[in-house]
Amino acid sequence: MATTLFIGCGNMGSAMVAGWLMAGEDPASFTAVRPSGTPVPGIRTVRSVGEADMIPDRIVLGFKPQQLRDLAPDVARWVTSRTTVISMLAGADMATLQGYFPRARAVVRVMPNQPVSVRRGVLPLLCSDPALQSELQPWFSMLGFAPWCLSEEEFGAIGFVAGSTPAYVARFIAAFAAAGEGRGLDPGLALTAAREAVLGSAWLAASSGEPMTELARRVTSPNGTTEAGLKVLDAELHGLIDRTLAAATARSAELAAETRGS
Ligand SMILES: NC(=O)c1ccc[n+]([C@@H]2O[C@H](COP(=O)([O-])OP(=O)(O)OC[C@H]3O[C@@H](n4cnc5c(N)ncnc54)[C@H](OP(=O)(O)O)[C@@H]3O)[C@@H](O)[C@H]2O)c1
Repeated sequence: MATTLFIGCGNMGSAMVAGWLMAGEDPASFTAVRPSGTPVPGIRTVRSVGEADMIPDRIVLGFKPQQLRDLAPDVARWVTSRTTVISMLAGADMATLQGYFPRARAVVRVMPNQPVSVRRGVLPLLCSDPALQSELQPWFSMLGFAPWCLSEEEFGAIGFVAGSTPAYVARFIAAFAAAGEGRGLDPGLALTAAREAVLGSAWLAASSGEPMTELARRVTSPNGTTEAGLKVLDAELHGLIDRTLAAATARSAELAAETRGS
């Protein structure tokens, strides 16, 4: 059994642990370090790496990117030539990570999104040693769609498409629910209807394998109601998504600069 030590296990670390436990992974294979002592449900939680007192097979960096420079020397003391260091830190590139952990067997970057907690995440991966990919693939695939990327650019681009999508989709559902409320629906009923409509549509899109244009065409009769709605939506949607992702990209570049300079 490979052992995994999370150093920092807040929102995202706990989401990943929840996904692995749901997939049937042995809880005894995970230990989490949280200075606050807040337990991570289902696994051993300690306050410091020293208290964990183990040489794990995998170390997952789950603290904030700005903390890397301060925490890396302490983490590196627990890294041997058998340790795979897995970083979920936004903005910390492979060269930076390898610089901090030169003794590691390999360094892996992962950028999970929140639905990893229900095993339907998107988690792009980048590995310093491609020979390890086949060993790690089944483990990461337990959490959802886990593609290996060929470059930092590809890794970043998938992260941008998927990373914030749960927040954008939550807004989208809420907007439909508000529109339903505006038409007199009970708020709870409006929210359930909007949420289930988005879930069912995503499910159909994922399972049918058909192009998105075809899925849209099937509910769009000529000169009908959906066509009238799409005329409004299509006029704004691509520009809106582009501007949304551009704003997120710009902020990410600022954070990456802060991480390098921290
Ligand atoms: N949230 C996302 O959607 C998302 C997506 C992709 C990647 N990420 C990356 O995931 C990382 C964590 O983000 P998050 O949203 O999970 O943040 P978070 O909820 O604030 O978790 C941060 C964790 O770091 C721990 N920590 C703080 N100081 C520490 C120290 N000195 N030593 C060890 N652990 C320490 C915290 O401990 P306590 O619990 O005791 O406070 C907490 O568990 C970030 O690097 C972020 O870039 C996040």
